[in-house]
Amino acid sequence: MANANRDATSFGVYIHWPFCLSKCPYCDFNSHVRHAAIDETRFVRAFATEIATTAARAPGRTVSSIFFGGGTPSLMQPETVGAILDTVAKHWTLAPNTEITLEANPTSVETTRFRGYRAAGVNRVSLGVQSLDDAVLATLGRTHTAQEALDAVAVARGIFERYSFDLIYARPGQTPLAWRAELEAAIAQAAEHLSLYQLTIEADTPFATLRALGKLKIPDDDTARELYDMTQDICAAAGLPAYEVSNHARPGAECRHNLLYWRYGEYAGIGPGAHGRLIAGGKRHAIATEKRPESWLMRVEASGHGIVSDETLLSSEQADEFLLMGLRLAEGIDLERFTRLAGRPLDIARIETLAGYGFVETTPEGRLRVTRSGFPVLDAVVADLAA
Ligand SMILES: C[S@@+](CC[C@H](N)C(=O)[O-])C[C@H]1O[C@@H](n2cnc3c(N)ncnc32)[C@H](O)[C@@H]1O
Ligand code: SF4
Repeated sequence: MANANRDATSFGVYIHWPFCLSKCPYCDFNSHVRHAAIDETRFVRAFATEIATTAARAPGRTVSSIFFGGGTPSLMQPETVGAILDTVAKHWTLAPNTEITLEANPTSVETTRFRGYRAAGVNRVSLGVQSLDDAVLATLGRTHTAQEALDAVAVARGIFERYSFDLIYARPGQTPLAWRAELEAAIAQAAEHLSLYQLTIEADTPFATLRALGKLKIPDDDTARELYDMTQDICAAAGLPAYEVSNHARPGAECRHNLLYWRYGEYAGIGPGAHGRLIAGGKRHAIATEKRPESWLMRVEASGHGIVSDETLLSSEQADEFLLMGLRLAEGIDLERFTRLAGRPLDIARIETLAGYGFVETTPEGRLRVTRSGFPVLDAVVADLAA
């Protein structure tokens, strides 16, 4: 039973870079705008310290994926990325084919750093294209045009083995006809992976204020559903089926780092506002670090880490997290693993009721997965099963 949920072959490292040049009005990620230059040397030292402290707690792991997320990691100097990767390799073993992803904003300035990232070891980029319509990009507060974004995709294609890009749909005023054209144009530029997010109005963002004032209207439920269904059909027909609620890939080209989260693997979270799930002493820990960059720096410099919360998860909490993450995946969850984590099986009567509505199905291999009609009501399905 010890380390029942530790997949010995997978260990991920998430690195958070918390700065952006400007704040997009829909975004509630831990990102901060600073007008003075960022002292990257000081951050490199602090990242090295926090990596060393984390590795002392979780020694001997083989790293299968590293993900630089943000904020805007493509604002980092390539030397900063290289130094962080060297530190990860010093404290853990890197698997021969470690997936190393960096999130990039598709501006022309950031594109000039791509070769440097490749030389530092990055082998996959994920570009925040968001839309292929300049007027929409302006309302989303983006600082790049559609052409600049497409140019960045072309540069990425020439430099990295793998790339993906993000689009946001179900935007204000978006018609199914317009989305079809935009998605088809995007697929023509895509390789093996696309992330397609429905616009979420996050609390305490400028978009939430505009919506409350009646100045921003997002598509109603029926239109959102039509846009979602269309997205699934078009992507599947193009060989990019959804492997997760918002993520599409050619089979085999899924983002291994994100799969690790959804399969409830083990990962370290390094940097301001990063989350980790580490297994230590046979227990799974949910760890979170200080969000404010300067406070995180000071904490790390004073005590070797920026952790502000470290909770040992009860088996029922682990089982709920496993359910919540795993049901996002088209492959669903292994019911046996749920039983091992929870110490009890999932309620068969609830599964049968949900299956009766056509929202979930079980497979002969003992998996439970959400169906095409279940995904639009995923939150309710998870809440029902977890209750
Ligand atoms: C960490 S963010 C962005 C990375 C990068 N800074 C950028 O903006 O290009 C990852 C992705 O989440 C998506 N996203 C962020 N906020 C969202 C929201 N409120 N609704 C839907 N998608 C969102 C965007 O597509 C974004 O590219
Ligand atoms: S969407 Fe990206 S660029 Fe915009 S504020 Fe969020 S993290 Fe920064």
